[in-house]
Amino acid sequence: MKVVIDTDPGIDDALAILLATASPELDLLGLTTVFGNCAIDVATRNALVLLDIVRRPDVPVARGAADPLASPYLGPVPQVHGVDGLGDGGPSPSPTREPVAQSAAEFLCRTAAAHPGELTILAIGPLTNLALALRLRPDLDTLVERVVVMGGNALVPGNATPAAEANMRSDPEAADVVFGARWPVTMVGLDVTHRVSLRGADVDRLMSAPTEPGRLLARALPLYRSFLERTNGLDGIYLHDPTALACLLDPAAFAVSRWPVRVETQGISRGKTWPSLGDTDDATPAPWQGRPEIGVCVDVDASRVVGLLLDRLSTAVGAADAGEGGG
Ligand code: RIB
Ligand code: CA
Repeated sequence: MKVVIDTDPGIDDALAILLATASPELDLLGLTTVFGNCAIDVATRNALVLLDIVRRPDVPVARGAADPLASPYLGPVPQVHGVDGLGDGGPSPSPTREPVAQSAAEFLCRTAAAHPGELTILAIGPLTNLALALRLRPDLDTLVERVVVMGGNALVPGNATPAAEANMRSDPEAADVVFGARWPVTMVGLDVTHRVSLRGADVDRLMSAPTEPGRLLARALPLYRSFLERTNGLDGIYLHDPTALACLLDPAAFAVSRWPVRVETQGISRGKTWPSLGDTDDATPAPWQGRPEIGVCVDVDASRVVGLLLDRLSTAVGAADAGEGGG
């Protein structure tokens, strides 16, 4: 499976990138970076550093959008991901190379054109680059095999605000464009990612691996873990972005409904993903008419996904058998 990951690394993005490079099913053709958890320069540096750590100099990085389509960047979230985007756990090595000259949007268009009907885009940050790529090449959505998005919240509250999930809130205009295009989209939102977490004991095992990836996690995970413990009472960490990757690796672990989805761009619910469930007086109210149905993940076999992710992460960091997965 040919994949480009569009990412704002970001701690859970880093886990997803480690997982992707430890998944033989994937032919990782590149990373495209976007603002979000941190500013674009930090996200791009982190993407390059992560690929150095997993020794993948063959995977190009293309720098993407610094700001949303129609509003100023809301700024980083250092309380979650650190000022450096990787947990502020100490200096990470400097990148050994530069990003490619193409922008993320150009890279997405050229890669899709080079592999018509074969490219999967795994989008685990704000969807600005995908919207810009559609502007650049309006037929892009007929060239791409599928888009899997970590983001949104169909039937549950948000995490960035009571209404909205972070990636969608970061650029609702871009998300609404992406969910309205002709490519097949699967939305892996908080409806399922808030059900997938790694227990503290397993986090400890991954961080203790005497390898470069293990030392990266030892730097990156404590801040994220303490944020989640303080705000959610969680013992461990959510695996938002890795869960979207798991949807590629083990789709049968997810229950998916098909609805047209609009993304709110106004008022206090800006960023909320609104599916038209077909249970209103008018089955398809005007704003949803003519919109394609997308796959919305509404349930997940959490222990199956955690088991897969823990096994792959253990392989990626060279940790000892990390025991049974949590749920
Ligand atoms: O809401 C979780 C998402 O927002 C994840 O992609 C995380 O990395 C942040 O970007
Ligand atoms: Ca992310």
